[in-house]
Amino acid sequence: MLTKFVIEGGHALSGAVTISGAKNAALPILAATILTKETITLHNVPVLEDISTMFSLLESLGKKITRKDNTVIIEEPNSLGYEAPYEIVNRMRASIAVMGPLVARLGKAIISMPGGCNLGPRPIDLHIKGIEALSATCCTTHGNLDVSAPEQGLIGTIMNLSSKNGSSVLATENILMAATLSKGTTIINGAAKEPEVVDLAKLLTKMGAKISGAGTESITIEGVSTLHGAEHAVVADRIETGTFIIAAAITGGEITINNCVPEHLEEAIRLFREAGISIDIIDDKTLFVKAGSSKKAVDFTTLPHPLFPTDLQSQFVAYLSLAEGKSIITETIYPDRFMHAAELNRMGANITVDNGIAKIIGIKELSSTSVMSSDLRGGAALVLAALATKGTSEVLRIYHIDRGYDKFEEKLKKLGAHITRTN
Ligand code: EPU
Repeated sequence: MLTKFVIEGGHALSGAVTISGAKNAALPILAATILTKETITLHNVPVLEDISTMFSLLESLGKKITRKDNTVIIEEPNSLGYEAPYEIVNRMRASIAVMGPLVARLGKAIISMPGGCNLGPRPIDLHIKGIEALSATCCTTHGNLDVSAPEQGLIGTIMNLSSKNGSSVLATENILMAATLSKGTTIINGAAKEPEVVDLAKLLTKMGAKISGAGTESITIEGVSTLHGAEHAVVADRIETGTFIIAAAITGGEITINNCVPEHLEEAIRLFREAGISIDIIDDKTLFVKAGSSKKAVDFTTLPHPLFPTDLQSQFVAYLSLAEGKSIITETIYPDRFMHAAELNRMGANITVDNGIAKIIGIKELSSTSVMSSDLRGGAALVLAALATKGTSEVLRIYHIDRGYDKFEEKLKKLGAHITRTN
């Protein structure tokens, strides 16, 4: 029996919530521990399924992981292997992040090829292009990507890592990690500028890497021969922060959000305000969010950082389904990322989707029913919609939500939500 949330909606959220470390920063950071034999200690690591999957992957390669709450110690008692098995990679696409570190440190990686996912086709051509630019050879056989460095190791170079779809966060991170142990200088042009790339660069620098320009579209890495142990606290999760902003606003509530980085959400905050949400930036770690007197329609487009993140699109769509007027949403990162729209329509929303563009005609109230999550952020959006809806709703297949939110329902309950996990 699959676990679900049962949500009695219609209760305004109030109180304070503390944001966890970012999943999408912690995942590449964990992969980066492969770059050294020495011990890495990480703080503020969120407790969620994708992180457990990355632990399993690192353990299968030979790392020893000790976790106490949000602190994780990664040691290497024996030698490391270089094969990332299908059973783990097929659970999580971010497993590809071990490719760069393995090839840089061991000269070889065999990674089961990740397939498509619920967000549509997700190519890995940029990961391959980047590692080949560092002089590795890649071939795909029997569903595996087999990557080898030349005998003398990876060789730094100048490359452009963007494609017609823009930059890729994970490909940038993968090649950034590989370049830290390459010979000579690497310049990654067309790099992703997301805060998670910056956080990874911070850890790598603490490990002895020489990196400049992380957070801009050109990153320069001077290769070093070895990296050493380090200690690091993972940056706050900007997507979890945005999700709680919408949770407060959609329920007509008011909450304080602690331990976040408002600076990472500038464009989202601008659009949320335009949509009628009152957001006070108390200081560089704290926000106070209050629902406005009415929800207003806005148009927005998902784009790479510093613009509006695709990972908050679904949650904002849930909010806008209740806004006065018509909103047009253009999804440029994953045009297929609209599975939540059909489920919101089951709750009475008026959303039509065509070719990566959603048109929402706001309605006054959603009606409670059973809905099914089909991806992480879409699942969160359905929970938010259910919280705003009078009556009892069920959100099924919440394993998607467990992949990426740390203690989601516990945090919501503390804010006064009536939400229970049940079979
Ligand atoms: N792309 C390519 N070639 C590649 C890689 C990507 O063309 O080799 C394109 C994709 O088609 C897409 C864009 O680049 O249009 C970005 O997609 P990508 O799959 O590279 O994203 P990612 O770096 O793998 C990270 C986050 C995602 C987030 C995206 C976009 C992690 C572990 N994942 O994925 O997070 O949506 O960046 O910001 O960092 C989530 O947390 O819900 C999630 C899906």
